[in-house]
Amino acid sequence: MDTAETVSRARYPATCTFTESDWNVLAEAWYPVARSDDVTDKPVAAKLLDVELVVYRSAGKVVVARDLCIHRGTPMTMGWMDGDKIVCPYHGFSYAADGQCVSIPAHPEAKISPRLCLTVFPSVERYGLIWTTLNGTNAHIPPLPVWNHPDYISFIAPVLDMNGSAGRQVEGFLDVAHFAWVHTESFADRDNSFVPSYKVTRTQSGIHTDYISTVSNYPHNSDPSTPADFKWLREYDVYPPLAARLIVHFPDDKLLWILNAPCPVSARKTRLYCPIVQNFDKKLSVEDACAFNLKIFNEDREMVENQKPEELPLDLQAEAHIMADKTSIAYRKLLKEMGLGKQYTS
Ligand code: FES
Ligand SMILES: [Fe+2]
Repeated sequence: MDTAETVSRARYPATCTFTESDWNVLAEAWYPVARSDDVTDKPVAAKLLDVELVVYRSAGKVVVARDLCIHRGTPMTMGWMDGDKIVCPYHGFSYAADGQCVSIPAHPEAKISPRLCLTVFPSVERYGLIWTTLNGTNAHIPPLPVWNHPDYISFIAPVLDMNGSAGRQVEGFLDVAHFAWVHTESFADRDNSFVPSYKVTRTQSGIHTDYISTVSNYPHNSDPSTPADFKWLREYDVYPPLAARLIVHFPDDKLLWILNAPCPVSARKTRLYCPIVQNFDKKLSVEDACAFNLKIFNEDREMVENQKPEELPLDLQAEAHIMADKTSIAYRKLLKEMGLGKQYTS
């Protein structure tokens, strides 16, 4: 567990697409808001749980702050970096890495109030991503211990925006009955739709599922010869509320790790970040791997963007379930236990 300096806490946004009780629970978790490589010498915009953010580098560290200069409400993403300071474009105030205003050009001699400060949130860089939390404390970032391991290739799949809820997206990632229907163009087959029974366990961090089937994970166009009866193990771990990890066991003990880490931009908009690590084909070009994953994500996106209701129903009576949905049933229960899905606050 990391300790990140907590600087500020966010308040429920004035215009928010989440209920206040859901927002309060979700705001305690950590989410990726940008790729490290995309944050260089310019302020970058992001949005998390309906809060507009500015992300930049200052004094050798990443800063994630509310995208608002409290002088006259100008977005700091319209500004620029001047060395280690971020400059507001309207009246030229500049702010240091801790968010404190350090220069007011109109009154260079005046003492600056400590209140004149950007709202800075804790941040951590990991797996090539910048993570933050609006109201959390210690950084509970899902584990991906093989990231950057010399025996693996590590990369971030193309970032994907979808008009759907993060809850529906995560549940889709955990769903094992859709391969034969949604992913027939990428890796699965329509004639291999049977879902063998599997076990779901609750862990300290969330949920663990071992799913064993004959569904290959090789791209259709690569097709290394795998015996048809090869048993593919897929290990799923849920890190609630909105992250999940899959480890696919390939033939010859080769492994593929996928961290599904959506950023809940708003209740019905999700930006999916996905660090991937694999050792089964180190010769594979990262571009090819990205293209393959993008194809899969787009297949999933089409479902997530069209499901109704858009939000994941946490009342188990709201939708019908089959045996194959064990993980998603456990996931819905877990989210409910965390306090999500309440229509009214007490
Ligand atoms: S609005 Fe930012 S300096 Fe005035
Ligand atoms: Fe899928």
